[in-house]
Amino acid sequence: MGRESITITDNRTGDSLEIPILNGGVSAAEWQKLLPGIWFYDPGLLSTAMCESSITYLDGGAGILRYRGYPIEQLAEQSTYLEVAYLLLKGELPTAEQFEQWKHDITYHTFIHENVRKRFLEGFHYDAHPMGMLVSAVAALSTFYQDAKDIFNLDSRWKQITRLIAKMPTLAAAAHRFSVGMPFVYPDNSLDFASNFLSMMWKTAEPRYEANPVLAHALDVLFILHADHEQNCSTTAMRVAGSSHADPYSSLSAACAALYGPRHGGANEAVIRMLMEIGSIDNVPDFIASVKQGHGRLQGFGHRVYKNYDPRARIIKQVADQVFEVTGKNPLLDIALKLEEIALADEYFISRKLYPNVDFYSGIIYQAMGFPLEMFPVLFAIPRTSGWLAQWVEMLDQDSKIVRPRQLYIGPEKRDYVPMDKRQS
Ligand code: CMC
Repeated sequence: MGRESITITDNRTGDSLEIPILNGGVSAAEWQKLLPGIWFYDPGLLSTAMCESSITYLDGGAGILRYRGYPIEQLAEQSTYLEVAYLLLKGELPTAEQFEQWKHDITYHTFIHENVRKRFLEGFHYDAHPMGMLVSAVAALSTFYQDAKDIFNLDSRWKQITRLIAKMPTLAAAAHRFSVGMPFVYPDNSLDFASNFLSMMWKTAEPRYEANPVLAHALDVLFILHADHEQNCSTTAMRVAGSSHADPYSSLSAACAALYGPRHGGANEAVIRMLMEIGSIDNVPDFIASVKQGHGRLQGFGHRVYKNYDPRARIIKQVADQVFEVTGKNPLLDIALKLEEIALADEYFISRKLYPNVDFYSGIIYQAMGFPLEMFPVLFAIPRTSGWLAQWVEMLDQDSKIVRPRQLYIGPEKRDYVPMDKRQS
């Protein structure tokens, strides 16, 4: 076998340099020694590793996903979201004592300042999108916790992490309640993480909301599946904003904003809209044909990294069965199953390695559980908060540089200013 390195040669000068391949990558800093001022042109960062990370392992070709070395399948089956959040943040599963403390700390930080709700959230327009409200509310939290700016004080850092993970469901439910004109529900400290969120979402006049345990468990599993996914768009946004040493609330708000779009956290909403547009199984072949002709995309299919079945989609399909036992089957499921069946057998999708991703089935479950479409990206943001924060901590601990990429300028050469009355139309 050859050496674990590459050699680059500058054909203008004949100079060459050997760069070692380490952990599957080559150092761009080494490249710069030979070719200062020659930049890698990599729109979308398709071929760029922005960091070293020990949080999430993803092999898109083999369809493997692990958090801190633990297979996602085992975590989904045996763990809880709060335990997984701890694992992502600390690198190890908690002992029983550590977990009790963690659960206690999260439970007792779920309340939000009354001004966040009364003055800030209630200032939105009556039909505000809950994700827009969440993006803003998370940023606003930085003004309530001045100590958050002290990002290299480890006690303060952990306190903000606890606050963010604990308060996200409260903010999320508050945004929903406001957008549908329902009164705010305070957190119930006697409930577990998912049941408490469901209580804040759905409680009406009853003294205590008892979430269906099957639905609470299904939501918890979905939270585990969404907790981290290495260097995706929103995590990169978190790292980019955090690299300026902004406080964690401001950085996390940037991550939420990146998650808002239909190519990322909004994809499961797009899946439901697509399934509703298709309307019936009979229309599936025509719809697939139109996608192949370039009229739109098959939402919930394809992934920048997975070129195989997304392992999260496989787990979600099982969760869907449990949820539908309680809620009754979502009528869109049959259309989704038919779409998957036809697409997986079609040369267009096979040759491009397009498989269902996590969002293909998650929206169908959320809809069956009663969540409005607008809440889908919000439901993604709640658990991803732990992943964003783990990545942020890792970045700060690595003494990283501020993110500041280069560009290849393709605009006009220098030219002189022309007064307005002398300009040609
Ligand atoms: N339907 C039909 N064709 C597709 C699809 C799709 N969903 N996705 C990719 N393609 C085609 C694309 O047209 C292109 O074909 P060609 O080579 O003939 O031009 C080829 O596959 C490669 O596509 P790409 O846009 O270069 O791939 P990408 O890695 O840049 O995009 C993606 C990844 C997720 C943005 C894209 O697959 C997509 O738009 N999927 C639908 C939206 C979606 O489900 N997003 C959720 C992603 S998973 C959750 C998350 O991480 O947030």
